Amino acid sequence: MEKLTLEKAKEINATMVTEEHLLLHAANVSAAMEAMAEHFGEDKEHWAAVGWLHDYDYEKYPEEHLLHTEEPLRELGVPEEDIRAIMAHGYSICTDTEPLTDMEKSLFAVDELTGIVQAAARMRPAGITDMEVKSFMKKWKDKRFAAKCNRELILKGCEMLGMDIRDVAEIVIRGMKAHAEELQLAGISGMYRLNLGNAGFRSERTAYNAGEKVTVYFDMIASDTDYHFYTDDVELQRVYGNSNGYEFTFEMPEHDVTISVESRNTMTCL
Ligand SMILES: [Fe+2]
Ligand SMILES: [Fe+2]
Repeated sequence: MEKLTLEKAKEINATMVTEEHLLLHAANVSAAMEAMAEHFGEDKEHWAAVGWLHDYDYEKYPEEHLLHTEEPLRELGVPEEDIRAIMAHGYSICTDTEPLTDMEKSLFAVDELTGIVQAAARMRPAGITDMEVKSFMKKWKDKRFAAKCNRELILKGCEMLGMDIRDVAEIVIRGMKAHAEELQLAGISGMYRLNLGNAGFRSERTAYNAGEKVTVYFDMIASDTDYHFYTDDVELQRVYGNSNGYEFTFEMPEHDVTISVESRNTMTCL
């Protein structure tokens, strides 16, 4: 092929990647690369395509990441320049292909950075739509926040680019903002709230789209107590798992839901 288009990159990626969070990661990195291309005055669609395809083999080969990329992509006719850029994002971790071009260095820098931006945006009511670099920097400095995203690698990428983390983050945020809906970072307008009525409940998020699966945990369980759980008009599936206490799942309806519990001590004095 003459050029890797975004459409082609999505098509190739979809043959290997099916997990929702990995597809979102591909979309995040693609959006960030599009903005980096704009910054450098390069071909936005091309960089976005390379970003989309960068973790081609990760879902199938997490332990052998990038060992199953070069040959298959070459066979599919992906240009060498793009294969090299993809290989270079694993520099010093799983490949020895050093990022040399602006596209390669950008991919290296934004890969993990998008993870922190995504996590920060998910905590905001309006998602990424009103996020500024200042609030990102607060999260960036808090090493426990999105701790899985390797800050050292991000800084190494910025250094290669000769850019400050602030400036790279600003570009990445701008790029992700432009795709807020697609990245599910448009905030909770149009979503429904999950209210946890009492202490003891835990959930990963507090807002969901209608039809999404919601999981709530309740772990304040005493053996001599009766519990009655209440919700507004949703059918709860309940399982008992030892580590998490009770685990409830339900499908988010088209309204907010509050889950609460009433407990009654059943201990009798003899
Ligand atoms: Fe990767
Ligand atoms: Fe990645």
